[in-house]
Amino acid sequence: MQTPPAAPDALFPDAFLVEVAWEVCNQVGGIYTVIRSKVPATVPAWGDRYCLLGPYFANQAQGEFEAMEELELHTASDPYAAAVRTMRTQGYDVQLGTWLVTGRPRTVLINPFQAYDQLGELKSNLRQRHGIPAPDTDDLLHQVIAFGHLSTIFFQHLAAQMPPAKRLVGHFHEWMTGVSIPELRRLQVPVHLLFTTHATLLGRYLAMNDPNFYDHLMWVNWEAEAKKFNIEPAVRMERAAAHGSHVFTTVSELTVRECIYLLDRIPDAVLPNGLNIERFVALHEFQNLHQQYKAKIHEFVMAHFFQSYSFDLDKTLYLFTSGRYEYHNKGFDLTLEALARLNHRLQQSGLEGNVVMFFITKRPFTSINPQVLERRAMLDEVQETCRAIEQQVGERLFYAAAASQDHKLPELGAMVDDYWKLRYRRTLQSWKTNALPPVITHNLVNDQDDDILAFMRRANLLNHQHDRVKMVYHPDFVSPSSPLLGMEYGQFVRGCHMGVFPSYYEPWGYTPLECVARGVPAITSDLSGFGDYVLQTIPDPESKGIFVVHRQEKSFDESAEELTNMLWDFVLLNRRERIMQRNAVESSAELFDWKNLRVHYDRAYALAMERQ
Ligand code: G6P
Ligand code: GLC
Repeated sequence: MQTPPAAPDALFPDAFLVEVAWEVCNQVGGIYTVIRSKVPATVPAWGDRYCLLGPYFANQAQGEFEAMEELELHTASDPYAAAVRTMRTQGYDVQLGTWLVTGRPRTVLINPFQAYDQLGELKSNLRQRHGIPAPDTDDLLHQVIAFGHLSTIFFQHLAAQMPPAKRLVGHFHEWMTGVSIPELRRLQVPVHLLFTTHATLLGRYLAMNDPNFYDHLMWVNWEAEAKKFNIEPAVRMERAAAHGSHVFTTVSELTVRECIYLLDRIPDAVLPNGLNIERFVALHEFQNLHQQYKAKIHEFVMAHFFQSYSFDLDKTLYLFTSGRYEYHNKGFDLTLEALARLNHRLQQSGLEGNVVMFFITKRPFTSINPQVLERRAMLDEVQETCRAIEQQVGERLFYAAAASQDHKLPELGAMVDDYWKLRYRRTLQSWKTNALPPVITHNLVNDQDDDILAFMRRANLLNHQHDRVKMVYHPDFVSPSSPLLGMEYGQFVRGCHMGVFPSYYEPWGYTPLECVARGVPAITSDLSGFGDYVLQTIPDPESKGIFVVHRQEKSFDESAEELTNMLWDFVLLNRRERIMQRNAVESSAELFDWKNLRVHYDRAYALAMERQ
């Protein structure tokens, strides 16, 4: 691979940069995190010469985007405003404004639906000019094609508005925006073009369906496979963008291999993903937050489990995994196998303590399981009764203390009215049940076909009292409005003890990094871009609380055993050791700050500007 030149000190004062992504102001998956978290490190370097471009979807944009006032748009003197004005005079629906995220970047959003009446022509052009077929029925492809056409027009106007001797760089992320690259080349628009792929489409499909994906990678017939999976148009768009760009990049060495074999172009550079790491001034603050959010998870666990049986929360560890529901690619299969083995070891060991494992993912469901909701409501009632008693005793004790002659603590039970005593007893009586705590919180649309549930049933990991590893499968993302885990995802992460992400296919994988940024130890794998990067750049990552399961050239059984050992070692730590480990994790997060990783982007831009 060609080594890009070193980044210059001053950041290209003669250049303008437009970064194009489907997920600008539109959260779908990991690319949103890339773009959004990178803004605070990008804006200071590029200033007003930086702009983001994405599709306008009213519902999404509503809360995230603020359009510029008409008057301001008319008087603004920069080339972005000028290009938007020109498009508007031609009747296009295009907006210039600000993405309301840290760094407040200038952003252009274009409504793809306005070009729907030209779809027939656009599709036939794509086929004739670039050999990209498009079916009649795929709405995502229609949006992509329409947006590609409109962003090409935007770049044409923008290039025409460039001040003399200024250069324009267009950085396109993923195939959904890459479709304008071949067209910009055909029209010879003066833009230095970069394309970053965050995965290969075929790679993802093949990995899901072929247990020996990595062994077969070198011999894949891309065209035949693309047809088989019915994704030929998108794969051709991806290839056209990869081949048409001046500089082609991806996010990890693992994806480099896929690009070579599936896209037939060697990437010019790898651009690893970072985060905007915000550290607290008071270092122990993140430890306090762990305690605070763990208490919220305790509430859920009490409601969910204690109706059936109780256990010592002070000796309970919260583990979790999260992400898109790709059972095999995300390593849910390996995680479950290791948990079953851990459960067995704990049962044999005579050690104290429990593990509660959360699976946070998204599956179609009809409703929250009413039983689970009821458990929560009943605990609320127990809590209410306790509060009422507490208040009554508090008031009476205070009175008794003030009036006391002998300074002795009175009998507190005598201060509770019979009404509350009875109510206390009745609430508790009606609360307890013999039923096992459900392993899943929602009613799935397809309960019989779910791989996670199938494993739990097969392995009899069904939250029996004697199980030392308990399961909570939550097939919806965590959100503050949820009646179950009513908090932000980031708060939930903080409250847990460890994240478990031993993926089989993961071009980068933000989830373990999101743990590290919050000082929570994480498990990743050497088949995830992040894990691979950690192995290459951090000596002794385990001392930083980052654990990499080896899956390359290992059997499922070997990797499962390694993961079980990692979990086992973690369970054996005492509180002091866990606190120290969290400190080590948190202090390593800085390595992944965009302030340090942006340099890879800068080098790629320098390289693109050398190429025409
Ligand atoms: C944080 C808090 C401590 C608390 C600890 C619990 O460090 O600052 O007050 O004791 O968390 O740690 P654990 O790993 O047992 O949840
Ligand atoms: C894609 C990849 C994921 C990566 C993300 C951001 O969604 O599947 O691994 O973290 O892009 O690059």
